[in-house]
Amino acid sequence: MRIDIITVLPELMKSPFEASILQRAITKGHVEVHFHNLRDYASNAYKTVDDYQFGGGAGMVMMIEPIDKCISDLKSERDYDEIIYMTPDGETLKQGIANELSLKDNIIILCGHYKGVDQRVRDMFVTREISIGDYVLSGGELGAAVLCDAVIRLIPGVLNDETSALTDSFQDNLLAPPVYTRPAEYKGAKVPDILLSGNFAKIEKWREDQAFERTKLRRPDLLDE
Ligand code: ADE
Repeated sequence: MRIDIITVLPELMKSPFEASILQRAITKGHVEVHFHNLRDYASNAYKTVDDYQFGGGAGMVMMIEPIDKCISDLKSERDYDEIIYMTPDGETLKQGIANELSLKDNIIILCGHYKGVDQRVRDMFVTREISIGDYVLSGGELGAAVLCDAVIRLIPGVLNDETSALTDSFQDNLLAPPVYTRPAEYKGAKVPDILLSGNFAKIEKWREDQAFERTKLRRPDLLDE
């Protein structure tokens, strides 16, 4: 898989890709992540990528031309499955979207800033708009990093058995059950006996029950989906 990220702040985005699972996914060749600084596509000497909004109002708007040039450059090299725009008014990121995107070959992620991009960018180039939640970030970069993390860990081969994504929360619309490790007792707090029993059928049943109870208590909305 290849991910091209278009941003005015590449330096804000790089560190999540330089550690842990994402770094390993890149090193092992499961994914390529390329950053494109939108200012490199600006046409004037000041590298301007934003301008005042027509009709007046506070806040700058990202101009269409540099974005068009950058996307056209990328599209001239390969076909893209999705051109995603990170925006608080997009569809809310869910595990299902991450699962779906993890199967794509090439995607572009466009990070918005200021008041967002000229609507014509969305109309002409963007195929999907994603929000990471109902709050406003200063730009799409952190949202894009969250999206990339959620997607990349699902690419086949990125996680090994121990970190398998199959038992994650949300994977079957259930939250994950509680987990424990040594010691079996800490300051009087004991690990549930069942987990020490060695009876794997019973342990599995206990985990399913716990996952269901936890979901019913914390996120009953998931059970209706
Ligand atoms: N840009 C600003 N806020 C955002 C959000 N909640 N999700 C994605 N991109 C954003």
